[in-house]
Amino acid sequence: MEPVSPQDLTRTVLDRHAGVSDVRLKEIITALIAHLHAFATEVALTEEEWAAGIRFLTEAGHITDADRQEFILLSDTLGLSMLVDLINHDAGVGATESTVLGPFWVADSPWRERGAVIARPDDGEPLHVFGRVFDLEGTTIGGAVLDVWQASGRGLYDVQDPSQPRGNLRGRFRSDADGRYDFWTVRPVAYAIPDDGPVGKMLAALGRHPWRAAHIHFRVSADGHRPVTTHVFDADGGYLDSDTVFGVKPSLVRTTSLREGAPPEPFTGDHHHALEYDFVLSPNAAMG
Ligand code: BEZ
Ligand code: FE
Repeated sequence: MEPVSPQDLTRTVLDRHAGVSDVRLKEIITALIAHLHAFATEVALTEEEWAAGIRFLTEAGHITDADRQEFILLSDTLGLSMLVDLINHDAGVGATESTVLGPFWVADSPWRERGAVIARPDDGEPLHVFGRVFDLEGTTIGGAVLDVWQASGRGLYDVQDPSQPRGNLRGRFRSDADGRYDFWTVRPVAYAIPDDGPVGKMLAALGRHPWRAAHIHFRVSADGHRPVTTHVFDADGGYLDSDTVFGVKPSLVRTTSLREGAPPEPFTGDHHHALEYDFVLSPNAAMG
């Protein structure tokens, strides 16, 4: 008898799934097996390398809990999260582009009045964020919900940092009848994703840094429209070309301007930064 080749084995494993009745499950598992086998065959994976891979995934499992999701971090840093985002969120020409949700969004963020201050002076330099929400026809959308979250000047979200009160640097706003929103926060800074686990070791082994370009997160939704989960990036915050989760899209980058005028309390001083960003939502029926 002929010895079994890698290709024979792959065929045998694929054939074992010929009868899977869920059509989509069958499509996914057979493609996964085919690509996994092709990968191991292509690189001639050694037993030591296979074992190292198993140890890596085991470590990722051990560090994962309700507050830490190492597998999502792995997906993010390998570009898989952005790929899934690109495949699923083609909102159409003119609509605000999406980017990764990340692990720091929380449900039921505090509702805030228009113009509210969501940061403390210690969190960084005062920044006025404002703009409007439009539909694809250029009509403003009143009553849109803008869910906002951001890291402090120390690069940590409230959920990572016991020194911040819960709800600091986050909030939900509604656009007014003219589609306008505005709030006061601090200028975002670049920050490192959690890199004290296996993903951090992986990045170090690959000679990659763990830094995210400076950004503010937004989830914008309105009745009859497709919600968008996105960031606005500070053009001068660095790492735009090497964001560790590949989340930067040129349409999401904005330059802040330095303006005269005192920011509201509890900020002090006689000037502030300003950042304008208009969001455009596509109708619910849009494909993509
Ligand atoms: C974030 O922007 O909050 C984030 C996204 C992906 C991984 C880690 C953090
Ligand atoms: Fe973030």
